[in-house]
Amino acid sequence: MKKQKNPPLQSQLSEHSPQPKSRTKESQDKRDNAVASSSSTAISKTIEAPAENTVSSPEAPSSLSKDASSKKASASKGKSPVREGGKVQAQTSPAAEAAVSAAQGDEKKKPTKTRRTPAKRKGAASSSAPQKPASPEANTGEAEQNFQSDFDRRLARYHDELKWLYCELYNGDTAAFDYFVSMLRRSWEERKEPLRQQDLRREADPDWYRRRDLLGMMLYTGAFAGTLQGVKEKLPYIQECGVNYLHLMPLLQSPKGRSDGGYAVADFRTVQPELGTMEDLEELADSCRGEGISLCLDFVMNHTSEDHQWARRARAGEAGYRQRYFFYDNWDIPREFEKTVPQVFPTTAPGSFTWLPDCHQVVMTNFYPYQWDLNYRNPVVFNDMTENLLYLTNRGIDIIRLDAVPYIWKELGTTCRNLPQVHTLVRMMRIACEVVCPGVLLLGEVVMEPAKVVPYFGTPDKPECHMLYNVTTMATTWHTLATADVSLLRHQMDAVCALPREFVFLNYLRCHDDIGWGLDYPWLKWHFGTDEVAHKKYLNDFFTGKWPGSSGRGELYNDDPRLGDARLCGTTASLCGVEAADYERDPFKLERAIACDLMLHAWMLTQSGIPVLYSGDEVGQLNDYSYHHDDEKWDDSRYIHRGRFQWDLAEMRHDLHTRQGKQFEGLRRLERLRAGEPCFDGRANVWTFHTGSPHVLGVGRWYQGRKLIALFNFSDQYLTAGAPEPGAFDELIYEEHFDQINHLELYPYGFKWLLQIEK
Ligand code: GLC
Repeated sequence: MKKQKNPPLQSQLSEHSPQPKSRTKESQDKRDNAVASSSSTAISKTIEAPAENTVSSPEAPSSLSKDASSKKASASKGKSPVREGGKVQAQTSPAAEAAVSAAQGDEKKKPTKTRRTPAKRKGAASSSAPQKPASPEANTGEAEQNFQSDFDRRLARYHDELKWLYCELYNGDTAAFDYFVSMLRRSWEERKEPLRQQDLRREADPDWYRRRDLLGMMLYTGAFAGTLQGVKEKLPYIQECGVNYLHLMPLLQSPKGRSDGGYAVADFRTVQPELGTMEDLEELADSCRGEGISLCLDFVMNHTSEDHQWARRARAGEAGYRQRYFFYDNWDIPREFEKTVPQVFPTTAPGSFTWLPDCHQVVMTNFYPYQWDLNYRNPVVFNDMTENLLYLTNRGIDIIRLDAVPYIWKELGTTCRNLPQVHTLVRMMRIACEVVCPGVLLLGEVVMEPAKVVPYFGTPDKPECHMLYNVTTMATTWHTLATADVSLLRHQMDAVCALPREFVFLNYLRCHDDIGWGLDYPWLKWHFGTDEVAHKKYLNDFFTGKWPGSSGRGELYNDDPRLGDARLCGTTASLCGVEAADYERDPFKLERAIACDLMLHAWMLTQSGIPVLYSGDEVGQLNDYSYHHDDEKWDDSRYIHRGRFQWDLAEMRHDLHTRQGKQFEGLRRLERLRAGEPCFDGRANVWTFHTGSPHVLGVGRWYQGRKLIALFNFSDQYLTAGAPEPGAFDELIYEEHFDQINHLELYPYGFKWLLQIEK
């Protein structure tokens, strides 16, 4: 990878871009004094006391997944030509591979348990031709039928649709399909009893994750507690944070220095040794389950590390394994692809292919050169990767984050993103989970514009992901902070509110990745004449502290001068100005920055869906600059917000004289109020309204006769705003009473949660 610095972008901010209000200190001094003793301190003032069988089988052990040499395989009947990237490539059917592998006596990858022939299902397709899918509703008499097991009951519901989708995608390869189904059965047989019981409970309460019961946190095991054992010991802290959904960032085996933060997986069944073992993970999952905490893990499905055994064997020239990736003898086809495929890491890893000098091949690598894209056109890849996924769910993982899912299907002449086949694959994975482990949720990582995101929910009768990241709202929130103009956020909120309530979004302010400025630019252009490139530059200048008067302390990420498309990194607190204020020892600025940080969290908690905190944000952890001096990390600025959790600072979380205390207790108060107030339920009606101020966002929520009106001041100004609602309201946070709420005063970055008094 080239290490290069880019010249600063020369573009100008559009004069029509929403501008921040002038943030001169002099005019504010008097009011700053007032806010110093109000805002963030006041939020935390009214605080209540804090409440509160290991199967280590080798990876992908399928005999049908064995990759045989192409010579032998092509001699068999199962060979079907598949057009790929403009050339016809031999594709070996799993049945043919199995035959060849068996003949070769390759015992190593045989399943640890004997495979059973699937029990004859009622109404199962008897011929090998795909049948038209029956809708789940068609199976009304399910309860009356005598199924041999829960697996058979569930399979009966989905079999025909699954077969239809599978055979359509894989050219009627029924041998591969049969293998797939037998693999599902085997995975279910290996599922331990407590997990099966949980499946049944969740099956009986399919809304279990849709209400407002879940509060998430994502963290790096190493940075947070050293090891998985360490995380187990720290579960009381997790619970003290009110968290019952824990996302552990990638922890599977990944080569040092070529890991992309763990997103280059070398073995889907081994934990990074420095973090512990698969047994430790399973033990942690058991403990979490005991405490009512759902555990989330990434499933990096678009690619493997070049160190994965499949990649090694492909590199060594084994044809069957080469067919698991995208290999080319020369650059002809790769060059064609690169004409239409946008780059993911234009500066840190330019291009979408990598030349392998040792074997004189070009391999597709959309992310880093050491992350080889898997070829899901090959059913063996889909079968084995689904088996790897189910292996993880059988360890006790409740939520599977489908990493980079829009990228998993490639087609020459396209962007290779969000292609229709991706949806077929996701739907089949959803069915696999519904059949084997219906208690497990799929969280899609779809960092795309809204029109591309929503289809990953599927439809109510053919759902794909259970949950998706609310990425546009997240990016628009930061835009709103930088411009102090809420109109785009309101527009975005209206779009989200118009979606079916079954669609569950995961709301967040920060995560382990950068903030990409994926805003609705056509809308901004129409309303403000905003120029996209100039606006991105403004946002980046604002949050890196270059813009006069701004206190953000972010760093740019993948600043590509040709595209003007730089993204942004930094922790919430550092982006909100806490770091600058702390450094300058300016108490007024600090109060204001903490108020801003808490306002953003309150806004996140006001949205329907699952709020997920980024570990460290609960105590306002600042940027970590040590990555600059780390040979393995220096060129990836995302490490600025992946620093070690600072337990010494977190120790101060109950002391309201410290910023950690104000942050932690303020946030806890908001979370408790949310947990106790039915208006925050995911099934509530939600709407936005005009507040009389362009700087103040107004959101209404109504649920079962209760109405909540929320106001958020995204500016650093004192101002007056209100809601067009008659009658008296009680403010929940400050415990104030208002006879009317048409004209309320808001502090800089102030917010209110107003509950209508029931008569
Ligand atoms: C996802 C991850 C990101 C990673 C990429 C490649 O986008 O969030 O951190 O670099 O996938 O796996």
